[in-house]
Amino acid sequence: MRRKISILGSTGSIGRQALEVIDKLKDKFEIIALTAGNNTDLLNEQIKKFKPKYAYASDINSICGAEPLSIDEICANKDNDIILVAVSGKIGLRPTITAINNGIDIALANKETLVMAGEIVMALAKEKGVNIIPVDSEHCAIHQCIKDISDVDKLIITASGGPFLRKTTEEMANATVEQTLAHPRWNMGRKITVDSATLMNKGLEVIEAHHLFNMDYKNIEVVVHPQSIVHSAIEYVDGSVIAQIGLPSMHIPIQYAITYPQRFEGIKSKSFSFSEIARLDFEKPDLQKFRALELAYRAGKNGGSATTCLNAANEEAVFEFLAGKIKLLDIIKAVEEMMCVHKLIESPSIDEIFAIDEEVRQKTKEFLKKSVCKV
Ligand SMILES: NC(=O)c1ccc[n+]([C@@H]2O[C@H](COP(=O)([O-])OP(=O)(O)OC[C@H]3O[C@@H](n4cnc5c(N)ncnc54)[C@H](OP(=O)(O)O)[C@@H]3O)[C@@H](O)[C@H]2O)c1
Repeated sequence: MRRKISILGSTGSIGRQALEVIDKLKDKFEIIALTAGNNTDLLNEQIKKFKPKYAYASDINSICGAEPLSIDEICANKDNDIILVAVSGKIGLRPTITAINNGIDIALANKETLVMAGEIVMALAKEKGVNIIPVDSEHCAIHQCIKDISDVDKLIITASGGPFLRKTTEEMANATVEQTLAHPRWNMGRKITVDSATLMNKGLEVIEAHHLFNMDYKNIEVVVHPQSIVHSAIEYVDGSVIAQIGLPSMHIPIQYAITYPQRFEGIKSKSFSFSEIARLDFEKPDLQKFRALELAYRAGKNGGSATTCLNAANEEAVFEFLAGKIKLLDIIKAVEEMMCVHKLIESPSIDEIFAIDEEVRQKTKEFLKKSVCKV
């Protein structure tokens, strides 16, 4: 039986790699739908090659060879066994909820879903008996290490440290967009690459890990590991540490997530060799330089709507940075300011979450316009 899958964001970094995985496992998958934002040329090439029944793009009239359908309709289609949510930003949340409501398993790459509404999404998945399999290499690593969460004392999330690990705060403050996008290990979409440079990405991962594995924030540790060979680890109550290691490639966690619980050779290109790894380094993150990580822990511990606020302020400020309107560390200033003025709602509904998201984005834009020097 072929597993029926839809990919939200098939034209993005994760989406394209997912199709490379599926191309190697043609007899295992049937693609129900592919979705894009603006890149309809690539979407139409993908439609020609993978022949999905349905497709979505921002300009639906430009879709050739598949029946246009909204993202929400795609996620409500019970033909799907699993949906890979690989769109970037807040647009991942609603379709994920629709898919869960329809009993469809989720391979989750989109970070913002759990950062914005982790409690609601995880509770709904439990109620509907839906699996949420993480795609992010760190959470995928933890997912592979855990047998019984009640025996786990600590989650250890590794971070490459990004392009500014060995740079000063001043160098980071004056970094150009090009320098910020030059990640030493991973080739990813622009928004997540900026988050990796500020270490906000690691902060978002800590919040995701809290929701995915139901672990208290005080038991989630971040360690900088520049080689990105150890993808993350867990410490059991008896002191045993189990880590998942491998070459830095997103193909492996993507394949794991969409084929779970089975494993196939699929995309594997090279066998892992310990003797080819010269060294593995680990160090504590510098929280003075990478303030974003501390802010994310603070938002996570505050709970409720605090992480929605963090996410909205960060996403909006990252867009402003990418547009060349502000400096890199202005992102952190904006996030901190928004967190200070935010009025916490302890258990927000999904509508309240979207309202807070909108409000914080608006305030972030106003704050950046008013208070931050232009580049
Ligand atoms: N890349 C990684 O290695 C990695 C690792 C772990 C987690 N993640 C997470 O996975 C998610 C995707 O990351 P990515 O790096 O693949 O991002 P990306 O390369 O920027 O791709 C984003 C995808 O979302 C689509 N999209 C954007 N806005 C849209 C809209 N308004 N409506 C419909 N589709 C829209 C894009 O379509 P168009 O390109 O056609 O406009 C593209 O297909 C993010 O949440 C990220 O944090 C990524």
